[in-house]
Amino acid sequence: MENEIKNLETEFVKEIRTADTANIEALRIKYLGRKSSLGQLFARLPSLNKEEKGRYGSELNSLKGKMTNLINERIKSLGQKEESFDLTFPSADIERGSLHALRIVSKKICSIFERLGFTVIEGNEVEDEWHNFQALNIPLEHPSRDAFDTFYLDLAEKDKGKYLLRSHTSPSQIRVMQKNKPPLAVISPGRVYRPDVVDASHSFMFHQIEGFAVDTDINFSHLKGVLLYFAREFFSRDVDLRFRPHFFPFTEPSAEVDVSCIICSDQRQKCSVCKGKGWLEILGCGMIHPKVLAACGINPKKYRGFAFGMGVDRIAMLKYGIDDIRLFYENDLRFLEQF
Ligand code: DAH
Repeated sequence: MENEIKNLETEFVKEIRTADTANIEALRIKYLGRKSSLGQLFARLPSLNKEEKGRYGSELNSLKGKMTNLINERIKSLGQKEESFDLTFPSADIERGSLHALRIVSKKICSIFERLGFTVIEGNEVEDEWHNFQALNIPLEHPSRDAFDTFYLDLAEKDKGKYLLRSHTSPSQIRVMQKNKPPLAVISPGRVYRPDVVDASHSFMFHQIEGFAVDTDINFSHLKGVLLYFAREFFSRDVDLRFRPHFFPFTEPSAEVDVSCIICSDQRQKCSVCKGKGWLEILGCGMIHPKVLAACGINPKKYRGFAFGMGVDRIAMLKYGIDDIRLFYENDLRFLEQF
C-alpha cells in the first residue's frame, strides 16, 4: 500500500505540471473520481487492521488534499496566463524599418510631378550605347561622352553597340518615346553609374530623376512653370529659380537651374552650403533637341518637348543638410534611423 500511494503521487505530480485548460477536468476525474486509483485505495481500507487503517487512511487523506490543492492552483495559474495573453496585442520585439532617405526624397519628388499629371516610369539600368548616347545626340567621338564614359558590360549587340550601366536617366526618354505617341508627360527615377572617384560629393553610383513632356504646343514657359511649382512644393513656398544658359547635346536651348539657397536667408556671407552665392545648382534642362525626337520616330516639325534631369542624392543632401554622399551608402543604422 505504501508504494502504491507513493507511485500514485509521483505520477500525478508529473501530469499536473503539464496539464492545460483542455485536459485539467479529465485529470481531476482520473485522479479524484470514484473509479480512480485513489478511490480504489480508499476502498481497500476496511480490509486492513486497525493500525494500518489509521496510518494509510491519514496518508490517503493527505494525498487527496494535496491533489485537490495542486489541481486548483493549476487552474488558477492557467486562467491568469490566458488572461494576460492577448493575441491582438502588438509584439514588443519586432523593430519596424523605414524607407531609405533617398527613397523618401525620390518618392516625394515623383509625387509632386504626379500631381501635375506626369506618369512614373522606370527605365533600364543596363542600357546599350545607342540609347545612352547616340539617340540622345551624343555622337561616338563627342567630348561630352568622356564624362559619361562608364561601366561597360561584356555584352554587345549589332546596331545597338555595347551594353553598359547607364550613366544618366535620359535614355528613359528614348525608351518611352519609341514606344508611345505624344502627348507624353513622364517622370523616371533610378540609379545611374559613373566612374567617379568616391569622395564626399561623388559616388560611382547615384540616383537621378528624369522628366519630360512632349506635345504639339510645348514651350520653355511650360518648363519654367513646372520646375518652379516643383521647387516651391519640395523646398519651400518662397524659393526662386534661376536659369543659366548651358549646353547639353540632347536639349536646345539648354539651361542649368539653381534654387535660391534654402539654408541662408539673412547670414548669406557665412553660409557654408551656397558659399555665400545665394544659389544652389539642382538640375539641367532644356527643350528636347529635334534630333532626339526624330531618333524616336516622333516628327520634330509637329511636336516639341521639354526635358530635365536632377540628382536625387544632391537634392536630399541639400534638404537634410547632409555634407557627405557616402553616408547614404554605408548602411550605418545610426544615420539611417534618422529618416
Ligand atoms: N542627363 C544629364 C546628366 O546626367 C542631366 C540632364 C540635363 C537631363 C538636361 C535632361 C536635360 O533631361 O534636359 O547630367
